[in-house]
Amino acid sequence: MYLTMDEEKIYGGESGETLATCMEILVTLGEIYGADRLIPVRSVQVAGVSYRTIGDAGLEWIRDLKAETRVPAILNPAGMDLKDWKKMGINEDFAERQLEIIQAYERLGVRPECTCAPYHVCRVAGFRDHLAWSESSAVSFANSVIGARTNREGAPSALAAALIGKTPNYGLHLDENRIPTLTIKVDGKLEGSDFGAVGHIAGPLVKNETPIFEFEVKPTPIELKQLGAAMAATGSVALYHVKKLTPESGLYPEPVEAITIEWSEIKEVYDCRCEPDLIAIGCPHIGPEELSRLAELLKDKQVKKELWIFTSRRLAKQHKEEVNQITKSGAKIFCDTCMVVSPASERFRCMMVNSGKALNYVPKICGVQCTLGTTEECIQKAVGEKR
Ligand code: F3S
Repeated sequence: MYLTMDEEKIYGGESGETLATCMEILVTLGEIYGADRLIPVRSVQVAGVSYRTIGDAGLEWIRDLKAETRVPAILNPAGMDLKDWKKMGINEDFAERQLEIIQAYERLGVRPECTCAPYHVCRVAGFRDHLAWSESSAVSFANSVIGARTNREGAPSALAAALIGKTPNYGLHLDENRIPTLTIKVDGKLEGSDFGAVGHIAGPLVKNETPIFEFEVKPTPIELKQLGAAMAATGSVALYHVKKLTPESGLYPEPVEAITIEWSEIKEVYDCRCEPDLIAIGCPHIGPEELSRLAELLKDKQVKKELWIFTSRRLAKQHKEEVNQITKSGAKIFCDTCMVVSPASERFRCMMVNSGKALNYVPKICGVQCTLGTTEECIQKAVGEKR
């Protein structure tokens, strides 16, 4: 892999041990995947934030680093609401460690936005921008909906990219790896969480292909967010296209192979799996439109079951009116975290979600049963309305 003179010097340790280690991570990755060089990135999104995931070893590694980010870098959700962690039932030891992790990242210049939907809160990605993002739903949205270019980075490689300002040029940074290779036709007039259900089904079907979807009704960006998040969770799909909609969909020839997902298969994903004692919305973190919709649905209502809604702190601050309306109903809005990366949801027996991604991860990661509903069904369940 070609390195410029400056890069060689960093690699050789002239800029200190931390940057030499970062360069080594990037070069090693680049050589494994056949990158020709390093390319500058516009922004970085760093996963590996929850104390539950990285533990003491991760904290020590971050704490020992001595460098500063060279490009805008933001954090993925942490293991708790950084302010209201007591309300989540998080214990003091966990909270202390989690706050230390955040401080360690901040010291490096990584912004504690703590969100998996950075595109809702900051301008950090545009068409054809090269990025180094790590959280799978964010990666999928950036590649597919924005038309930016990022591989799915691990926590160390994302942090290395933030501190060097570059990433190896391979995988989804290259045109040839963005060509659709499988058409997926989807039956039915889908809306809302149906797209998460489709993603849940499509993930394992896609394998190593790049899908291009044909839908009867044009999905909204929020629906695309749900589709990509679920597909990334059940099948590690980091890029998809939607015919006549997503920015790169018209740039490549049509794939030869095609499959169909039937409406009956989509409905099966909604099969009731358990009676929820927690309803959780916000996987991925909700954006402004979803916040307004929830405020509307909860207006003049009182929840009878725990209803947790996850978003970024920045967004919650910008939309105080909606937040007040939601919390007046007894629902809780938590920031900086989510139902999957926080241990807070482990004490529940069954979680109802409106997300195909959460449906896949909650049982595996939290050990809690999970069932899917539309957003309206989730709210009805929370307020005790019969359908
Ligand atoms: Fe985000 Fe947590 Fe879901 S990080 S995509 S809300 S699992």
